[in-house]
Parts: sequence; structure tokens; C-alpha cells
Amino acid sequence: MYPVPVAGVRELLVTSGSTMAAAEVARQMSEGARNLSLSGHVGFDSMPDQLVNKSVCQGFCFNILCVGETGLGKSTLMDTLFNTRFEGDPAVHNQPGVHIKSNNYELQESNVRLKLSIVNSVGFGDQINKEESYKSIVEFIDAQFEAYLQEELKIKRTLHNYHDSRIHVCLYFIAPTGHSLKSLDLVTMKKLDSKVNIIPIIAKADSISKNELQKFKIKIMSELVSNGVQIYQFPTDDETVAEINGTMNAHLPFAVVGSTEEIKIGNKMMKARQYPWGTVQVENENHCDFVKLREMLIRVNMEDLREQTHTRHYELYRRCKLEEMGFKDTDPDNKPFSLQETYEAKRNEFLGELQKKEEEMRQMFVMRVKEKESELKEAEKELHDKFDRLKKLHQDEKKKLEDKKKSLDDEINAFKQRKTAAELLQSQAQQSGSQQTLKREKERKNNPWLCTE
Ligand code: GTP
Ligand code: MG
Repeated sequence: MYPVPVAGVRELLVTSGSTMAAAEVARQMSEGARNLSLSGHVGFDSMPDQLVNKSVCQGFCFNILCVGETGLGKSTLMDTLFNTRFEGDPAVHNQPGVHIKSNNYELQESNVRLKLSIVNSVGFGDQINKEESYKSIVEFIDAQFEAYLQEELKIKRTLHNYHDSRIHVCLYFIAPTGHSLKSLDLVTMKKLDSKVNIIPIIAKADSISKNELQKFKIKIMSELVSNGVQIYQFPTDDETVAEINGTMNAHLPFAVVGSTEEIKIGNKMMKARQYPWGTVQVENENHCDFVKLREMLIRVNMEDLREQTHTRHYELYRRCKLEEMGFKDTDPDNKPFSLQETYEAKRNEFLGELQKKEEEMRQMFVMRVKEKESELKEAEKELHDKFDRLKKLHQDEKKKLEDKKKSLDDEINAFKQRKTAAELLQSQAQQSGSQQTLKREKERKNNPWLCTE
């Protein structure tokens, strides 16, 4: 269970009106407490049972991330570990990059319900350029932390029924080469070690001989140490599991074999892999470390893995994220700095910056307006000049046309005068012609012997 705030400490803070840190108040409270013995049974010794009942009622969640190259037996191992069949078809491995596939399952054992997520890094190691292979895995882990942080920061939180998708363990599958770790493995584990509990495992351990396996394990561990990769250590602070966990830490990385095939050995059905030369029993500790892995991962340390995820990895993510946002626990003089003060300081800083930005924008605006104004003035002047030029051109043209019109009018008038004179002459000529005709007519009448023309 994750730590919950102590109600008494909170009340004391409120009633005393003091700004004393909660830890200090708690210390004073415990120092000032008197030891009393009870004269009869009260019942608060049932607290652990109450806690167990509540947890059983709520159910548990556990999220496993499987990282390893294609075909290393990740899905088979998951099926073997949980004694069931999870996904159907194998993933496609011709993608340009690594992508994350998450499947959720609900399992029940006795009366305990487990929400299990199995997250797979599909296509890991399939690309020619493997430089960015770790990226999508890191982003996925961070995204789950971020979702939890956002839920925590909400005013109305529902953490009690929040579906926690943070990765509790990363099973890192190492190829059974017998040589050394690939640089892809080292780089990926280095990128992941501050974000998730890594348990390295040698996959398909049946393909490596006993002597070689021992040497391979030593080589892997020394490479991890020399490269500063921090893998998950089974906790030894709880004395009930200290011995077994201590022993198991020395067995890392576990060399595992997975199989869902059951074979009759003696009068028992056992998970095994059959070969022409013999049978590898998955649950036989002389054959592989599968049982050790199952013990450590599920039966002994599942709760510690969940707790480490919350108290170590998530806490680190949260701290970095809040510091990135400008929140601090102490001021520059190393004095405690409350969230309220940080908020106020951040707000003032933000307002100051906003004002500065506003002023800058205003100045920029004024400058741009001035620039635009002068541009417009320039354009207006150009337009005026153009208008004047056109006006003058128009006037000249008009004058030319008027002159032409005047000369044409003069010509018309002259023509009209000539026309009138011609018409006059013509009518005069017609008049004299008709008079002569009349005269001749008269003469003919008077002298009929005159022959007509
Ligand atoms: P992808 O999801 O495609 O990356 O593959 P995977 O890593 O999930 O491997 P999967 O479990 O599909 O197994 C691939 C092949 O390896 C299958 O033929 C399995 O039967 C075989 N296999 C699985 N575990 C072991 C093992 O421990 N030893 C040997 N020799 N073969 C195994
Ligand atoms: Mg698979």
C-alpha cells in the first residue's frame, strides 16, 4: 500500500495555526506520546486484517513490460509464468520503428483479483538503424507517469479507483549468444534504469550449455556494472525475505526457458520442451531459472516492485517534472518554501514577464503603425504625383481636341458658306434658264413657222 497522510498531523497543523512542517509536528507528537498498557482487548490489532481485506476487495494491478528482440520467447514466457494463454497471433516485424502494444487482462487466483497489463515492445531490434529503438519505450513509460501525475494534481482526484498503468517491472530479454551484451541492450537498459525496475533475463536458455551460461551470466553482470546500468535488486531489508532475496540477487540474470507444452514425466504433467536428445523441464531448477524468476517476480516481490515504482521511479519523474515547472521545496536561502509561496512567486514572475511581453508588443505595434503610416504617406504622395501628371496630360489632350474642334468648326462654316453661295448661284442659273424657255415658247406661239429645236 502507498503511504497515506496521517490525519492527526493534519488536524494539529490546522488547529495550531502554525506553519511548522508536518514532519516536525509528527516528531513532536511521537516524542510527547506516553506509553500506556491496555486492561482489556480493544480491537485495533485487527488493523492489518482490515488492510488485507480492503486490498483484497479492491484487487491489485501489476504491469509488466517485455523488452527484447523478435522471437526471443517473450509471449511464451508470459504464458508460462501465468499458466494461461494471453495473446493470439505473433506481431508483425516489418515496421519502420518500435511500437508499444499493451494488453490488459483480469486474472483471479483464490479470491484475489489481479489486473494485469502486459506491454510489448513490438519490432524491437528489427530495424537496420537501431539508434532510436529505446525512444518509444521511454516515451510510453513517461506517458504513464504523466497520466498519474495529472490525476494527482487534479482538484477532484479519484486515485482510489484510478487505473494505474505505470510499469512495475521491465523484463529485459537478452539473446542467448554466450558472448556479451549487444550495444542495443546496453543503451536501452541505461535509458530505462531510472524509470523502471529492470530484471534482466537470458531468453531461450536451453540453447546454451551449462558452463557457457555461467560465464555468460558473469560477463553480462560485469558489463552492466561497468556501464553503470542499475538493475532491480530484490530487497533484503525485510528479514523474512532477506535470505532468499539475497541469494537470488546472486543468480541474476535469470536464464529462463518457456513452454506451454505439457509432457508426462513420471506420473506428472510438466511444462517442458522436448528435443531429440532429451527434455528440458521448465520448472526444474537444474534445467533453468524459470522457477526462480516466478518466485521473485510474483510470489515474493510483486508488492515491492509496485512500491519501488511509486516511491522511487514515479517520485523521480514527479520531482523532475515539478522542478521543470518551477516548483521548489526551499528558497535560495535554503528556507522551506511552501507550494503557496512557490505559486505566488511563479505567478508574479509570470505576470512580470507578461507585462514585459505586453510592453514589447505595444512598442512593436507602435513602430509597425509608424512604418505603415510612412509607407502609406509615400504611396499617397506617389498617387498625387501620378494624378497631377495624368491631369496635366488630360488638359493638354483636351486643349488639343478643342483646337481641332475649332478648326473643324471653321472648316464646316466655310463649307456651309461655300455651299450657300453655290446654291444661290444654282438657283439664279435655274431662274434665267426658265425665263429663256418661256421667252422661246412665247416666240413660237407668235410665229408657228419657226421650227422647234
Ligand atoms: P515476438 O512477439 O514476435 O517478438 O516473439 P516473442 O518474443 O513473443 O517469441 P514467441 O514467444 O512467439 O516465441 C518465438 C519462438 O520461440 C516460438 O517458436 C517458441 O516456441 C520459441 N520459444 C519460446 N520460448 C523458448 C525457449 O525458452 N527456448 C526455445 N528453444 N525456444 C523457445
Ligand atoms: Mg510475442
